[in-house]
Amino acid sequence: MKLTADTDSGTVTIEDAAGSRTVELWSQEGFQAIADLWLKVGWNQKYSYAFTWFGRPLIQLPEDVIRLQEAIFAVKPDVIVETGIAHGGSAIFMASLCEAMGKGRVISVDIEIRSHNRQAIEADPLSHRITLIEGDSAGADTVAQVRALCKPGERVMVILDSDHSYDHVMRELEAYAPLVSPGSLLVATDGVMEDLADTPLGQAEWAQDNPARAARDFAAARADFTLEPPPRPFDESAGTVVHTYYNSAWLRRVV
Ligand SMILES: C[S@@+](CC[C@H](N)C(=O)[O-])C[C@H]1O[C@@H](n2cnc3c(N)ncnc32)[C@H](O)[C@@H]1O
Repeated sequence: MKLTADTDSGTVTIEDAAGSRTVELWSQEGFQAIADLWLKVGWNQKYSYAFTWFGRPLIQLPEDVIRLQEAIFAVKPDVIVETGIAHGGSAIFMASLCEAMGKGRVISVDIEIRSHNRQAIEADPLSHRITLIEGDSAGADTVAQVRALCKPGERVMVILDSDHSYDHVMRELEAYAPLVSPGSLLVATDGVMEDLADTPLGQAEWAQDNPARAARDFAAARADFTLEPPPRPFDESAGTVVHTYYNSAWLRRVV
């Protein structure tokens, strides 16, 4: 793909497998073309590995963190299940929203919770809102532990951010879907992998082996979930530009 941005003529020319097209630089289309490339270059620069939440590293694109906050505020879950803890920043982030909303707790699962991360999360003032479970997030034992911690009638939301292979995400989707309350969300993060297959740090197989394809296949096979980004509660931008690592991520349980 070749992208030529010309600030003098105010155009962006995109040349790819679909052919060549020129759009206005200062337009929604121009912004989208540059944002798409920014995302790919930024990912290769490990851009998302440079942020913290209340002192804990949070490995997310900041824009996705804001969108996740919007979704959690709209759903107001009693329980947020998260797979993939890493340093704990996302668990602390979600616990801080629960604390601010005066409701909700976080169940966080990771196949390996390193002792320094566990200590930091357990020492955090928000730790009373977080339960840590160590195990394979798609394993039957782990899923049973999570299920046992969700009480009947509680509003549950699930965020998948562990092993991002197609097979693992599909197993997680199948395993956690029954926990998700009607109206709530099942979020398969990092579908951006499908756009990164041709980049230096990407892998060719990611074109197929990614969470976005798993979420699309899951949604196509299920009448109880729809795949759609949550509505934006506020958007006075000049044109809605999609700028996210959460490609095809947002599954809403409809019944
Ligand atoms: C991308 S990181 C999670 C980032 C974290 N949610 C955040 O926002 O900072 C992925 C994590 O998934 C964990 N993981 C990988 N495979 C897993 C599996 N099969 N089950 C549970 N966790 C897994 C890794 O140990 C790693 O900590």
